[in-house]
Amino acid sequence: MIKGYFITIEGGEGAGKTSLITRLANTLQKKGMNVVTTREPGGIPIAEKIRTVILDTEHTMMDARTEALLYAASRRQHLVEKVIPALEEGKIVICDRFVDSSLAYQGYARGLGMDAVWGINEFAIGDMMPMLTIFMDVSPEVGLARISQAADREINRLDLERHSFHERVREGYKLLLSKFPERIELVDAEAEREDVFQAVLAIVERRLKQ
Ligand SMILES: Nc1ncnc2c1ncn2[C@@H]1O[C@H](COP(=O)(O)OP(=O)(O)OP(=O)(O)O)[C@@H](O)[C@H]1O
Ligand SMILES: [Mg+2]
Repeated sequence: MIKGYFITIEGGEGAGKTSLITRLANTLQKKGMNVVTTREPGGIPIAEKIRTVILDTEHTMMDARTEALLYAASRRQHLVEKVIPALEEGKIVICDRFVDSSLAYQGYARGLGMDAVWGINEFAIGDMMPMLTIFMDVSPEVGLARISQAADREINRLDLERHSFHERVREGYKLLLSKFPERIELVDAEAEREDVFQAVLAIVERRLKQ
């Protein structure tokens, strides 16, 4: 039986997901909550192996649907081996990206279709949807600039070429927000770190009380 609470953090590149999760988990733990943070494939050997197949540079012939199916398969294994057991133990699970990433990136931005990608993911996930999803909304300009600063390099031609792709990812997330307004909450991730963090903490604490 699920006694815990399943939270996913979504958003484009450089939105601040990973840094936020670390701080959020620390804060909740200090308040006495039992928190697990994870990201796919989450150190699950089967999921890791599937990911190796997806990322293998020799697999240039991989079909987009094959790729989507493999991501869903990897997600399933991570869910079954790591997320569900933690939720059954009553823990708060915070996952860095989940199904909405597949829907926004592959379904919408890459053009496979959100319904098609949802279909295979529904099979993979069953009723284990996140109870709360934080969409950290950032423009590609700001997000990519943050990443290039972090990597100590200027935005290169490739980043710029992919700009329209990142715009589409953002549109995809906004579409998801309008489809699932009860589950997904938008946070302005262009704000100061502290403000972003306080906004997310307020949402999480409000939801946990309900
Ligand atoms: N609100 C903020 N204002 C300014 N910089 C920020 C903010 N939040 C995060 N950053 C910085 O932006 C960079 C990217 O943050 P982070 O790695 O947490 O983003 P991410 O969403 O996990 O990115 P990715 O999609 O690449 O995993 C880091 O250098 C981080 O310190
Ligand atoms: Mg990250």
